[in-house]
Amino acid sequence: MKEQLGAIYKESSEAAQKVEDLKQLEDLRIRILGRKGQLTLLLHGLKTLPSEERRIVGQAANDIKNKLLQVFDDRMQVLKRASWSADSKLRPDATLPGRPVEMGREHILNRTLHEIEGIFKVMGFSVAEGPEVETEYYNFEAMNFPADHPSRDMHDTLFIDDGMLLRTHTSPVQVRYMEKQKPPIRAIMPGKTYRCDDDATHSPMFHQVEGLMVDTNVSFTDLKAVLTFFIHRMFGEDANLRFRPSFFPFTEPSAEIDMTCVNCHGQGCSLCKGTGWMEILGAGMVHPNVLWAGKIDPEQYTGFAFGMGVERITMLKYGIDNMRYFFENDLRFLRQF
Ligand code: PHE
Repeated sequence: MKEQLGAIYKESSEAAQKVEDLKQLEDLRIRILGRKGQLTLLLHGLKTLPSEERRIVGQAANDIKNKLLQVFDDRMQVLKRASWSADSKLRPDATLPGRPVEMGREHILNRTLHEIEGIFKVMGFSVAEGPEVETEYYNFEAMNFPADHPSRDMHDTLFIDDGMLLRTHTSPVQVRYMEKQKPPIRAIMPGKTYRCDDDATHSPMFHQVEGLMVDTNVSFTDLKAVLTFFIHRMFGEDANLRFRPSFFPFTEPSAEIDMTCVNCHGQGCSLCKGTGWMEILGAGMVHPNVLWAGKIDPEQYTGFAFGMGVERITMLKYGIDNMRYFFENDLRFLRQF
């Protein structure tokens, strides 16, 4: 059989060099590789061989088939080029100007995210990620939301099934991170988050950056210092911060943090509803139950956490008033940055 294969290869590749046009080449290909082609029939004959031999000959037959396909393809290129030069109408016109290749650019949300990452890297934070399809355990339970507790209603959760959901915040990555890394911990965790919510300032999918620092003696002062440094780098030295007492199940104490209104610089305008301040992040000291969930002893370690919306930061920084612009892919919008 091996000799037969060799002969088929030799004859067909010689024949391929002799054919004069694409039609003849196609006929030859069908005679050899078509459904009733010489090589195809020979391959059918393999069935009658004992299995060990079948394997070896089968391998050889396949090699030959591939080599032949290449021979036919090469010959086809040669014939095509020949027909182009014979007929100027078929010939590609090398003098036509090329189509310009448009340069892409980074999406404004990614650019903001990379800027945020850069600022925290300066302070020694590393970057980590977690899954978007999350378990109820990590999204709620481990974050100290009791089962069936109304605090879960703070999030308009998109449930999947069997205790799975689309994460409503990046906070579950805190526990995933603590399970793997022992203190000292300094990390930010960016990613997509999902809530059943859709209007000018809410999108069902949006991005958050979580921050976590855990060590011996981490205090609220550290939280304030880290966030102040971040805001100054992001929005300029004259941006001030204001901490307002708030509630999150996973931090105690908790705060919502406002920044001087980017529009009126604190004078009071319609954007900040006359207050001179705009809310920009949620933060607090990591709740002992969350440290336990992360297998860290709250008697030995303390930590702070914060969470910010990437869309929100971008809107404030660039004066964008509708979240939908980010996801419509309108080049007139995207090209401005
Ligand atoms: N996870 C909170 C939210 O999505 C933000 C937050 C993170 C608050 C960490 C405190 C600490 O609203």
